[in-house]
Amino acid sequence: MTPPEDESRILVAYFSVPETDSPDDMSEDEENSAHVVEGRVLGNTQYVAQIISQRTGAEGFRIETAEQLPLDHDTLEDIALEQQEADARPKLKSPIQNLSDYDTVFVGYPIWWYELPMPMHTFFEGHVFSGKNVIPFSTHGGNGLSGTVETITETLSDSAVVGNAFTISRDDMDDAESEVVAWLERIGMART
Ligand SMILES: Cc1cc2nc3c(=O)[nH]c(=O)nc-3n(C[C@H](O)[C@H](O)[C@H](O)COP(=O)(O)O)c2cc1C
Repeated sequence: MTPPEDESRILVAYFSVPETDSPDDMSEDEENSAHVVEGRVLGNTQYVAQIISQRTGAEGFRIETAEQLPLDHDTLEDIALEQQEADARPKLKSPIQNLSDYDTVFVGYPIWWYELPMPMHTFFEGHVFSGKNVIPFSTHGGNGLSGTVETITETLSDSAVVGNAFTISRDDMDDAESEVVAWLERIGMART
């Protein structure tokens, strides 16, 4: 891939659900789902998205469901499984208004029940990705990319989906910065 130039138009779109908004006294479930940066709680995927933005100059877009998801882990797991079993397309809060402005879109998500979270399907089906470079990344609790790149490649059949996607375990978030930078260099997307 051609290295990004200053005028290249890059977006990082990500879905991420930190299970708390307080950095203090986190339960194990909350710690698993969140990474604290300078006292601010970020979801794991949100944190990776932030590093990508800083290192590539990409703008960021957070994919959010119209209905707010619960912070409680067990309830969130139940809802996610119900959505998957129903092949649901949960409504999103808002679409990206200006996706046509971008040539390259990093797309990030957590692995949910060995798959893409269902709101990611709503996201892919609700936008026109044809002709774009799409670069997936995930965070996970043990299952890596779990076949999601293949799913995205099938779904976005008119896009160039980068096979060399990034994934990092929620247990390795302290190493995320150096791992993301090494990956961006490998795929020719590091700006400096
Ligand atoms: C509903 C739900 C289902 C999950 N299912 C899986 C799974 O099947 N495999 C896995 O490796 N991790 C699984 N996880 C763990 C998340 O992928 C992991 O904690 C991720 O880093 C969360 O990212 P986020 O903070 O950006 O939302 C699941 C988490 C949730 C909340």
